[in-house]
Amino acid sequence: MSKARLVSGFHHFALEVSDMEKSIAFYRELFGFKLSERHPPGEIVAIPVELAFLRVGDNHHDLVLSHNPKKKYRKRTPEDDAEGPAYIHHFAFGCPDREAWLEVMEMVKARGIEIIRGPVVHSKYQPGGEGSWGENESFYILDPDGHRLELFCDMATIDADGTFVTVRGERIEEAKVEEI
Ligand SMILES: [Fe+2]
Repeated sequence: MSKARLVSGFHHFALEVSDMEKSIAFYRELFGFKLSERHPPGEIVAIPVELAFLRVGDNHHDLVLSHNPKKKYRKRTPEDDAEGPAYIHHFAFGCPDREAWLEVMEMVKARGIEIIRGPVVHSKYQPGGEGSWGENESFYILDPDGHRLELFCDMATIDADGTFVTVRGERIEEAKVEEI
């Protein structure tokens, strides 16, 4: 049987962290993740790393943290960023609306976490947009290991004919996806 979609969408993300306690606390306290399960390395022979499964809703997990106790973790350096292995560029959490997004931004500021980019309107069509893509509002921070994390709200949807539609339901007629 052929299906209209072979993949239904992006689901969870698994991040390697140098300090499990610190990272669980960060994602729990800042964004409200809940711990579904946590398992020590080797509990399953095939899995020699510690794993923590975190959720934001009713899925078993939306974010997985892994930690390898045998690895000598070190801080990522500017040299690594300029020349070195390919890293994750960033990953993002969507907020349900702008009000929630502003609330998260206040929490971030209250904890003294640096906003490394933004707040920014990713748009070349909407007022105040910086010319970038997605029709959403974003800001970026680093997690305890320096993973670049984006918080956003109000991303555009795509109509059946490929036209961008804003969160207010307005079609942006000059904006089309490359592939329908
Ligand atoms: Fe992004």
